[in-house]
Amino acid sequence: MNWNKWIRQAHRWLSMAFTACVIANFAVIGRGDIALYVGFATLVPLALLLLSGIYLFALPYVTRRRGAVLERT
Ligand code: HEM
Repeated sequence: MNWNKWIRQAHRWLSMAFTACVIANFAVIGRGDIALYVGFATLVPLALLLLSGIYLFALPYVTRRRGAVLERT
């Protein structure tokens, strides 16, 4: 599996982890607790989603530019 595919798969599974964390947040709020650690735990997959998401966003532009360079040479 190449690197780009690996990042896309990671983004996919991280989105599921993030979704589970969001549900856990609602569950905790429903109990009347304010559990800061659940909120902070949610930020971990979100931060990784942000990094892998920015990578996925940049991918088509970077590959297009590389293609353009190849055409010129
Ligand atoms: C935090 C900032 C995020 C950024 C910048 C971001 C960005 C992206 C980008 C650029 C793509 C690729 C779109 C494409 O070219 O097809 C993508 C795919 C995707 N994103 Fe995100 N995303 C973020 C957060 C999330 C979150 C919070 C979720 C869901 C909980 C999510 C779920 C997905 C899924 C399921 C895909 C499709 C993956 C696949 O192709 O298999 N992302 N995202």
